[in-house]
Amino acid sequence: MLSLGQWLRSLKNLDPKSDLKHKAVLGLLKGRRMTRDFKESPLELGTAEELVDVARYAPRAGNTDGIRYLILENTEVSDYWAITMPDDTQHDFPWPGLLKAPTLILIWVNSTEYLDRYSEADKSRSGLGDSESSWSTPYWWVDGGMAAMAILIAAESQNLGTLFFGVFEHENMIKSRFDIPDEFNVVGAIAVGHGTAEQRKSKSTLRKRLEAKDLIFKNNKN
Ligand SMILES: Cc1cc2nc3c(=O)[nH]c(=O)nc-3n(C[C@H](O)[C@H](O)[C@H](O)COP(=O)(O)O)c2cc1C
Repeated sequence: MLSLGQWLRSLKNLDPKSDLKHKAVLGLLKGRRMTRDFKESPLELGTAEELVDVARYAPRAGNTDGIRYLILENTEVSDYWAITMPDDTQHDFPWPGLLKAPTLILIWVNSTEYLDRYSEADKSRSGLGDSESSWSTPYWWVDGGMAAMAILIAAESQNLGTLFFGVFEHENMIKSRFDIPDEFNVVGAIAVGHGTAEQRKSKSTLRKRLEAKDLIFKNNKN
């Protein structure tokens, strides 16, 4: 098998007329769908760390190091669900197949790292180093989303299923249970595992995707 470096070099050397890269990337992007029913089988050892390693290559504003990951496996996953769905509510949860996912990856961002980075000489003129309120678009959330997508696609490339979902009001309890430093806030969680053949559909997925032509603003001033 080719090493990652050899593979990347071979992609660079591809005949420009080859559509191999195009097809592979489009296949991953268009073929990925959220998975809400998982088998209990665990990921191979090191897979979750590999997914985080891929996320390191996601774009990040100012190349800031403001993202961290929490990988939960085995009893930690059960602890996560016990914290977020206490008092036996798990029995009524409409997505029991989600609770079987062997691994959860939580993405955390630290806005202070962004303020510090944007206070550095090459960025200070932006004024973004002053305070969080200077950011009309807080890039830590944007970068968190980029990292999440990298994980979803990297998992898809290994035929693994994923679901991105919110942590919301459980954030502080999760922080406390898993010793997450105060300055971090959660972007969301990604369940990762082997999807079952039958998937219970979410209502959201019944909504049709608009066509690209409907998504692009028309510039009527021209
Ligand atoms: C920010 C974000 C939050 C989401 N939260 C949830 C969630 O809490 N529960 C869930 O089942 N799906 C969640 N989803 C998945 C969406 O429902 C799903 O991406 C959308 O319906 C399109 O389906 P697809 O990703 O399978 O194409 C979330 C997706 C995103 C991007």
